[in-house]
Amino acid sequence: MPPSPIRTARIARPRELLMCRPAHYEVVYSINPWMEPEKPVDAALALAQWEQLRSVYRALGHVVHTIEPEQGLPDMVFAANGATVVDGRVLAARFRHVERTAEGPAYLRWFLRNGWTENLWPEHINEGEGDYLLVGRRLLAGTGFRTDVRSHAEAQEFFGVPVTGLTLIDPRFYHLDTALAVLSDDEVMYYPEAFSPGSRAALRELYPDAVLATVADAEVFGLNAFSDGRHVVLPQAAAGLAAQLSERGFEPIGVDLSELLKAGGSVKCCTLELRRPI
Ligand code: ARG
Repeated sequence: MPPSPIRTARIARPRELLMCRPAHYEVVYSINPWMEPEKPVDAALALAQWEQLRSVYRALGHVVHTIEPEQGLPDMVFAANGATVVDGRVLAARFRHVERTAEGPAYLRWFLRNGWTENLWPEHINEGEGDYLLVGRRLLAGTGFRTDVRSHAEAQEFFGVPVTGLTLIDPRFYHLDTALAVLSDDEVMYYPEAFSPGSRAALRELYPDAVLATVADAEVFGLNAFSDGRHVVLPQAAAGLAAQLSERGFEPIGVDLSELLKAGGSVKCCTLELRRPI
């Protein structure tokens, strides 16, 4: 009888995260197809949903820092866009749209105040971990809507890890973290149709066993997820992905961030990972 496949236990690694309370959150401009300023946002509910996400992280043993939200920056809640941090080095964010440009310096100030001395104010537009996702020692880098492709070379020079560019083609999935999520040091899940044919082929080659999302799961932002290597926090509406993750030995944890989805964001958008020097 052939041996039954033995799944090695998934190990969670505790993380250090940065989040921003949605105290000034609202949808008053539209810079992606999800944002409809004429539709009301329930501010109290947004706050409660965000607090729920933070308590999930804390219950899992992660350290959550917070940055003071600033008036007039309603999208500041999306901390993932605030910077990219690898080996203690902070690549500051430079936003594509004028509505968000002040967030770059605001996040950089937080890092300076908190002892992160190795940082770079970049030459090229990049929206932080919205478009930069670290898988093991490789940085996947989105472009097409927000991050300038020239930023990819800048990031590789600064961090000294291989950077692999991926082109996004569906405006609903305008940041890499809306179309792809990192599950472990060598596993990802993604929605193939969000990528150009060449990028799709490259992803197939790098991650032949990746979890592939259906359009239904992608549309509820199921890929905007955060994994610690064992637990995968994701929008609860992404039921198909949750089932696929369980099958692979992960523990999916569904959360409801419906109010933040009105700005085109969810779990991962609210979460910036701080990686200390190794
Ligand atoms: N309204 C924000 C924008 O369009 C949402 C950012 C979501 N963040 C993310 N990491 N995908 O820029």
